Amino acid sequence: MAFLIPEDIIETIRNSADILDVVSESVQLKKSGNHYMGLCPFHSEKTPSFSVNPTRAIFHCFGCGVGGNVFSFVMKRDGVSFPESIRMLAGKYGIPIPEKEMSPSARREENERESIYSVNKEAMGYFKSVLFGEQGKIARTYLKERGMTGSVAEEFNLGFVPDGWDNLSRFFSRKRIPRELGEKSGLIVSKNKERYYDRFRNRIIFPISDMSQRVIGFGGRVMDESLPKYLNSPETPVYNKSRSLYGLDRTRQALRETGVVHIVEGYFDLLALYMHGITNVVATLGTALTRDHVRMLSRCGVTKFVLVFDSDEAGINAATRSIPVFQKEFVSADILVLPKPHDPDTYIRAFGPDQFKMASDKALGIVPFLSESSIKKHGLSIEGRIAVINDMKSVIGMVEDPVARSLYIRDLAHKIGVDEKAVHEKVEEHTPTERYDSDDRTGHGLQPLTIPGKTLSRFIEMERQIISMMLQYPDIIEECREYGVVDYLENPSFKTIGAMIMDYKGNVNDMPAVLTNRASDETTRRLITGLAIGDIPYLYKNCVNLIHQFITNKKKNENTLSQRIRLAEETNDQELLIKLIHEKNVYSKTMKNQGLSQKKIFNSGIGGGRSI
Ligand code: CTP
Ligand code: MN
Repeated sequence: MAFLIPEDIIETIRNSADILDVVSESVQLKKSGNHYMGLCPFHSEKTPSFSVNPTRAIFHCFGCGVGGNVFSFVMKRDGVSFPESIRMLAGKYGIPIPEKEMSPSARREENERESIYSVNKEAMGYFKSVLFGEQGKIARTYLKERGMTGSVAEEFNLGFVPDGWDNLSRFFSRKRIPRELGEKSGLIVSKNKERYYDRFRNRIIFPISDMSQRVIGFGGRVMDESLPKYLNSPETPVYNKSRSLYGLDRTRQALRETGVVHIVEGYFDLLALYMHGITNVVATLGTALTRDHVRMLSRCGVTKFVLVFDSDEAGINAATRSIPVFQKEFVSADILVLPKPHDPDTYIRAFGPDQFKMASDKALGIVPFLSESSIKKHGLSIEGRIAVINDMKSVIGMVEDPVARSLYIRDLAHKIGVDEKAVHEKVEEHTPTERYDSDDRTGHGLQPLTIPGKTLSRFIEMERQIISMMLQYPDIIEECREYGVVDYLENPSFKTIGAMIMDYKGNVNDMPAVLTNRASDETTRRLITGLAIGDIPYLYKNCVNLIHQFITNKKKNENTLSQRIRLAEETNDQELLIKLIHEKNVYSKTMKNQGLSQKKIFNSGIGGGRSI
């Protein structure tokens, strides 16, 4: 999408947005030296490895490698695009963005989305006023019978629409909302573009909101046994079921505080749990749980997922299907099946929150749950045990982590009293192709840095130090420029970053944050934040020493270079010759510069402290 937000506006927003302030909205940060540390919102962890450096306005996680500036943080946390992150921060800090900069088509789309949000909001207001008004009496009675309090109805903006084809349509006319918009929002349905009528008639209304509390869609329930029991908004430019979770806008805080989420299937289930104090809950919207859902919840700080089902069959099906979903997001989940004939709503009303919590604590992980269910189903006769292994071989086969897989195998073998090796063979026989499918993990910001210091060659390690030094101690940049250090960098990523540093013209304090914006790919961005986040007390002298050492090493190389040039001349390899001579020229230039800087090394005189 061609949003053209001018660079200077982006700069202004970046400068106004306090990264600590923004990150603190969702991560609890603790000061530690010049940094702030907290639990990474982008992967599950128990000890903090997520670091924010307010001076450089960047964040970096030493656990999963994700990093960036305030925009990248908002993009990842809220799952929005770069322009959207700019808009959100501009909104938060009250910075106007010149509207005309948007391309006409982007502008149109944005307008359409905005108007759907506002139509939805109007409709929510209408449904709500009906529920609490004269016509809402039967609906209020229905809700009361189902144990809903007025305050929960109020908080979740529940509504009601009486019987009739055009209650909402008439409200829209009064509000001068074009019919076309009513249709786009899914609230008005057309029959051959001739006859128009309300989608929701004589139903209790559940508005569905996104995390910014914008109304994106609705669900509607009948008050008797008629069918369909529920109707839902269709997918619209603002509503996508597989990326939305009912209740999340209200329960987000509780998810962050507890780190645990209960995932239920129904509107009433969510409301009943919430009312009884189980506020760490969300409901899917008539779809299976998706990776987007899991990712959204992880971003809210959830590390423990409990899927709640009202029957074994539902649990088994959903659990089996969700294994790859959780696995691909590197998290695990527990399955809580409630005793018949309960669903979460009736269960909590019958047994109360303490019992629910106890059951939730005791919930089994997906694989143990499935093996227990299978044993329950088939029994432990010889045939039964064979059937259990058959059930479980595909389930355990889906587990990617070899350690986890072998633990599950051992557990199952023990449970059914079969030799571990035999179970192992059965499982390995069944290796689903899915396990070996290459999955784009980098796209989701979860892949750890692939260049940890220890595995680097000494040379590359030195290159890494040089880049880190330039990012953390920008005083040295001019020195590096004089030496032509960047020309010598061999690692392509470091060379790219080095060149970006050389090209950088702005305030040196902003450099890391600006460069992360300019980085063309995720790997480069992660490298930059990883190298810039630290606060090593660099000393000028030590920095120059490092440069010196680096160049000296290169010089040693030069001798071999001369030999290679001679060899190339002898064998008449013109192509190689040109390349080698070019390399040699670069070295010579550095040698010249080195003489110049020797003086500086001796004049600098700032001594002591830690070495780099
Ligand atoms: N659902 C739906 N359309 C249906 C039935 C169900 O969209 N025809 C979705 C709704 O989001 C519903 C959820 O699936 O909340 C769970 O459905 P179900 O278990 O049948 O209903 P409950 O949530 O238990 O609703 P109630 O207690 O009102 O019967
Ligand atoms: Mn129910």
